[in-house]
Amino acid sequence: MKNVIAIDGPAASGKSSVAKHLASELGAIHINTGSMYRAVAWKAMKNRIDWTKEPEKLEAMLKDTFMRFVRKQTEGEPELELDGQFPGDALRAPEVSRGASAVAVLAPVRKRLVELQREMAGGDMLVMEGRDIGTAVFPDAKYKFYLTASPEERARRRLTQDGKVPSPESIAAEAADIAARDKQDMERELSPLVQASDAILIDNTGLTEEETLDKFMEYIRK
Ligand code: CDP
Ligand code: CDP
Repeated sequence: MKNVIAIDGPAASGKSSVAKHLASELGAIHINTGSMYRAVAWKAMKNRIDWTKEPEKLEAMLKDTFMRFVRKQTEGEPELELDGQFPGDALRAPEVSRGASAVAVLAPVRKRLVELQREMAGGDMLVMEGRDIGTAVFPDAKYKFYLTASPEERARRRLTQDGKVPSPESIAAEAADIAARDKQDMERELSPLVQASDAILIDNTGLTEEETLDKFMEYIRK
């Protein structure tokens, strides 16, 4: 059994926030694998690589890509370092979100990132979150969770997170964007988003971040 807590689930279900709190509670390292897919899309867009038409260029780029999670300063959470730089908030842009889901269907991308993710295990305990952690990356994880919430609640959370004031119209638009990405993630051929048969299902619609953390801790303490 790998020293890993795996958290999977759809967009804006609260994976990052609970992973961060769990890691600090347990003295573990939080790995946000979504940022790795975002980083591939971001780097490819910066290098003007058309990943659907230029697969050989994308493969060459992947060979020349290195990622790890390190603290930028002595304080705070480990952050994604891509080729020696911290892309930070650039990875949160909407076009990068859509790009991340698009590159995530490609076999060479998944192969390279899963390889990097597996290399991260072996030392400290990891809290790793994404879409395929409990199903494909670490099927032998110590704990597996599948976190979800209603589409409207997730849209409201994402808007608030981006500093916007949610209105009924903006919630509907954001929910549509999120639903399109969820659909792509659930219907792709390679490592689709699905609840592992042995994962614990947590629906945190109407729960605060603290209440969500408590639910996870209940299972871990058991
Ligand atoms: O923050 P949000 O939940 O919106 O997305 P994310 O976790 O940053 O992931 C961005 C995209 O990367 C997802 O929509 C997936 O298409 C892809 N992804 C994946 O395929 N496998 C993972 N383990 C993590 C993310
Ligand atoms: O990682 P994922 O995309 O699944 O979600 P997140 O980034 O952890 O959460 C998206 C937003 O929802 C963040 O601003 C969280 O603070 C917020 N959130 C919340 O309001 N209530 C929760 N129970 C969980 C998350």
